[in-house]
Amino acid sequence: MSRLVRIRPFELDDSREILEIEEAVFHEPNPLLYAMIESRPMEGFIVAEEGGEVVGYLLGALYMDEARILLLAVKEGYRRRGIGSMLVKEYVDSVRGRASMVRLEVRASNLAAQTFYFKQGFKFLGMVSNYYRNGDNAYIMVKPMENMTLLL
Ligand SMILES: CC(C)(COP(=O)(O)OP(=O)(O)OC[C@H]1O[C@@H](n2cnc3c(N)ncnc32)[C@H](O)[C@@H]1OP(=O)(O)O)[C@@H](O)C(=O)NCCC(=O)NCCS
Repeated sequence: MSRLVRIRPFELDDSREILEIEEAVFHEPNPLLYAMIESRPMEGFIVAEEGGEVVGYLLGALYMDEARILLLAVKEGYRRRGIGSMLVKEYVDSVRGRASMVRLEVRASNLAAQTFYFKQGFKFLGMVSNYYRNGDNAYIMVKPMENMTLLL
């Protein structure tokens, strides 16, 4: 884990760097990300900063007592240094006491992210066929909070 990395709330000035990471990682503009930047959410949008540079971000949202991770990415060249883990931990801590679980969807082909989330305490809940625009399936992964027991 790097000691120089700081996790902090999203600021409007981060927009360009975040969109650059998103396009480099996912190779297409993400309408949800544009919408969230426009609406400047106060909660659940956090970034990892190192040396004044944005090197990762997580966008989460709370629906009733269910927290969701909608977007997560760490810039290439900065991975496997604990930054993704720091972002997830910060988000999970921020919803503690308000959410009974954290849920996310991950592309079935994205083994790296599945391994990463499994390491963060997420379990596979199920699969949704044809979830993505190109027909890819999604796995639903959930991390129960202290007041919830998974009966899987
Ligand atoms: C998934 C992602 C956010 C992980 O970020 P990261 O900063 O590299 O993660 P960490 O360094 O905190 O990894 C923690 C652990 O997760 C696992 N892990 C992370 N990346 C992995 C990979 N590519 N392959 C296998 N395991 C991996 C490892 O166990 C790792 O611990 P280790 O490095 O000590 O072995 C990053 O790879 C990424 O941005 N990927 C592209 C975008 C993406 O897939 N987002 C998720 C969409 S749902």
